[in-house]
Amino acid sequence: MAKVAVLGYGTVGSGVVEVLDTNAAEVAESAGEKIELKYILDLRDFPGDKHETQVVHDINIILDDPEIDVICETMGGIEPAFSFEKSALERGKSVCTSNKELVAAHGPELVELAKKNGASYLFEASVGGGIPLLRTINDSMKHEKIDSITGILNGTTNYILTKMDKEGAGYETVLKAAQEKGYAEKNPEADVEGYDACRKIAILSSLMSGMHVNYEDIYTEGISKINIDDFEYARNMNMAIKLLGMCKRNQNGFFSIVAPFLIPLENPLANVNGVFNAINVHGNMVGDVMFYGRGAGKNATASAVVADVIDIIKHKGKHIDVNMKAEKAVLSPKDNAVRMFFVRVPEDLKEQALEIFGSNIEEVTAEGVHGEFAFVTNNLSEKDFEEKVWKMDSVKGYIRLY
Ligand code: HSE
Repeated sequence: MAKVAVLGYGTVGSGVVEVLDTNAAEVAESAGEKIELKYILDLRDFPGDKHETQVVHDINIILDDPEIDVICETMGGIEPAFSFEKSALERGKSVCTSNKELVAAHGPELVELAKKNGASYLFEASVGGGIPLLRTINDSMKHEKIDSITGILNGTTNYILTKMDKEGAGYETVLKAAQEKGYAEKNPEADVEGYDACRKIAILSSLMSGMHVNYEDIYTEGISKINIDDFEYARNMNMAIKLLGMCKRNQNGFFSIVAPFLIPLENPLANVNGVFNAINVHGNMVGDVMFYGRGAGKNATASAVVADVIDIIKHKGKHIDVNMKAEKAVLSPKDNAVRMFFVRVPEDLKEQALEIFGSNIEEVTAEGVHGEFAFVTNNLSEKDFEEKVWKMDSVKGYIRLY
């Protein structure tokens, strides 16, 4: 019988407890032994809850209990989660977590701490919710040279972009409706400005490179500047607009970015709608591998946490290797990345645009959008593109092409 503790009895924590209760037999079969929930750490009491007697308020009760094999940290945020996780690992207790802020900021050092103490540190639920992504990268694809990971990593923004596209509603209207439905937070900044996707692509970039990619080094743009006219143009180009997190290694360097992209409809990522997430991983031998599923939500996220618990129990007494060293990775400057851009300028600046961007740019039109000139550039480095934009008297907006 293995014994676990859950830190934080909020949405994900209570989901973990529910998965352990509901699927107890399947969990035991998968782990090779029964798994018992011994403690729930929370500041609150939960009178009447089925597990009220397991609730404790002092982390030391859990840390000092030699029976506890695994700690599930589902509190979120940096502190006190970081201190609790470190203390657990220092005592040789394995930790699994859904806490993407903490994994993005300190994941590599926690992996190394786990290794030093013969424990494991797993974080499947921190990226892509219930999608079994990290374990596949870390296990089934470990022998691959992964050269790119591209994903729709944020459900809230994908829901907003899908609604804008399918219903022709404006950004503010859709955001308000998403907040009313509980899909978007009251303060939506972390989602709509791309910060959440940035944490997730930082974790994926670290796994891809085996080093620590600092999320603060990743250029990040959100979706708040996308408007419904952009979708009119996108439709005429047979493309969709998606917020992508992307890391890529090519002859120009190692890049990571979060930004809205125009994606051709024949790319499966273009057809991922609503709150769903999808991630494409490209390995040098296997080629493209695509993952699709619920990137958020209580049960999906909790299921991924429990998958980590099972993995840890199956490997009790051993460190599960995670390809993530604390050594800092060096990202290539965004300036060197080369791509095409879709650009909208006022109609009277058409001549100036042709002069600056070249006469072979491809004009794009959209029914119902007047008074402007829109076009797709040739392949340009980000630096060259920025310089050309600066030379224009005015630019209404631009979106990168995937
Ligand atoms: N706010 C996140 C999303 C939750 O919308 O995807 C899951 O990390």
